[in-house]
Amino acid sequence: MCTGPVEEFLDLGRQPLSDAFVAPGEDPSREYFFRLALGRCAACCMTQLIEVPPAERMFHQTYPYRSSSSAVMREHFARTAERLLARRRDPFVVEIGSNDGVLLGAVAARGVRHLGVDPSGDAAADAAARGVRVRVDFFTERIARDVRAEHGPADVVFSANTISHDPNVNSILRGVAALLAPGGEFVFEDPYLGSVLANTAFDQIIDEHVLFFSVRSVVAMVRRAGLELVDVERLPVHGGQIRFTAAHRGTRPVSPAVAELLAEEDDQELHDSARLAEFAARTRDRRRDLVVLLRRLRDGGARVVAYGATAKSATVANYCGLGPDLVSAVIDATPTKQGRLTPGTHIPVEPPEAFGPGKADYALMFAWNHAEEIMAKERAYSESGGRWVFYVPEVHVV
Ligand code: SAH
Ligand code: TYD
Repeated sequence: MCTGPVEEFLDLGRQPLSDAFVAPGEDPSREYFFRLALGRCAACCMTQLIEVPPAERMFHQTYPYRSSSSAVMREHFARTAERLLARRRDPFVVEIGSNDGVLLGAVAARGVRHLGVDPSGDAAADAAARGVRVRVDFFTERIARDVRAEHGPADVVFSANTISHDPNVNSILRGVAALLAPGGEFVFEDPYLGSVLANTAFDQIIDEHVLFFSVRSVVAMVRRAGLELVDVERLPVHGGQIRFTAAHRGTRPVSPAVAELLAEEDDQELHDSARLAEFAARTRDRRRDLVVLLRRLRDGGARVVAYGATAKSATVANYCGLGPDLVSAVIDATPTKQGRLTPGTHIPVEPPEAFGPGKADYALMFAWNHAEEIMAKERAYSESGGRWVFYVPEVHVV
């Protein structure tokens, strides 16, 4: 991040850590809360959290998120691995935020030299079970130099949904610049500010999503570390992301896609205060509409649950004041979340077996970015008359 002044435009109030599910017997009064608010840097245009909880509180041994819980994401990362390895002979691949090895598993399966770096020990153990080597650590400039000294330079550094999670992104980028071999590339995929605004996806704003990338802000961010943005590609996953490719400055031709998307951002006034204020106003509208609908359903005697104990849902539930009185359970397939309570709002997380025909009248789609996959799995529920409630891009029932 640069040192320019950050102007706040949205306050989502007091929030817990989005992945801090409360275990049985744990004292819920010990939950950590912070003020979730978003601003934009007047100098480099980076949209960012105003207050950031300590990284060690968010990412630690028992961090519950597992990338492989979605078949769509497993497929996405298998294809991504194939692309990263194409046309490279005997590369060394490093991943920042390798989690359960969803990407490096495909790299390891081809016998390619690799290393993941991730502070989440339990997730790293899942990765190890797939034959993936992980160093359990936060990736920083110091660790990067260490990795280079021990393993040699990296031909590819990859990172998905991780560098936007770290306020020390400058250290990460300097580390990447130090670790990359000449001609190497750094490929990273993260949520796109343009998609968040277009979809009014206010639930993308969580403790872990510290930075919201646009092409403009990323050009400036990578430049500070001696890197250059050489390509951008829009991705449909997780509600709209960009795959950015950076390299040592001047070592690679810059794709016309970079200038094209920069021009599109200017056309859409993506960084204008008025555009951001309008997003904030639409966010408040979504809260009003969702609360009105859920209260009406409850008062009519409907059984309402939610689907997907996403980190994103912590923002929705806490910002809208949704507790067990409005949503009786949250269904989730991740074993590390089941049997626990949602952060801040204390709704029980139950396995998919607790869901199905006759078990609910309405399901609030917290995992809207996986809606197709989930609705295909739960077709019997829909066919028996079960309805789904969405709040992105606006509140509606299907
Ligand atoms: N890449 C996976 C996981 C994303 S979740 C995917 O896209 O699905 C974010 C992961 O980044 C977590 O496993 C977390 O432990 C890890 N992480 C957070 N900060 C990190 C850092 N500074 N260095 C390395 N990993 C980090
Ligand atoms: P995701 O939207 O990937 O990320 P975040 O937690 O950062 O918002 O989380 C999806 C959640 O939905 C995850 O807890 C797994 C769960 N899920 C299911 O329960 N069933 C499914 O079929 C899928 C695809 C996800």
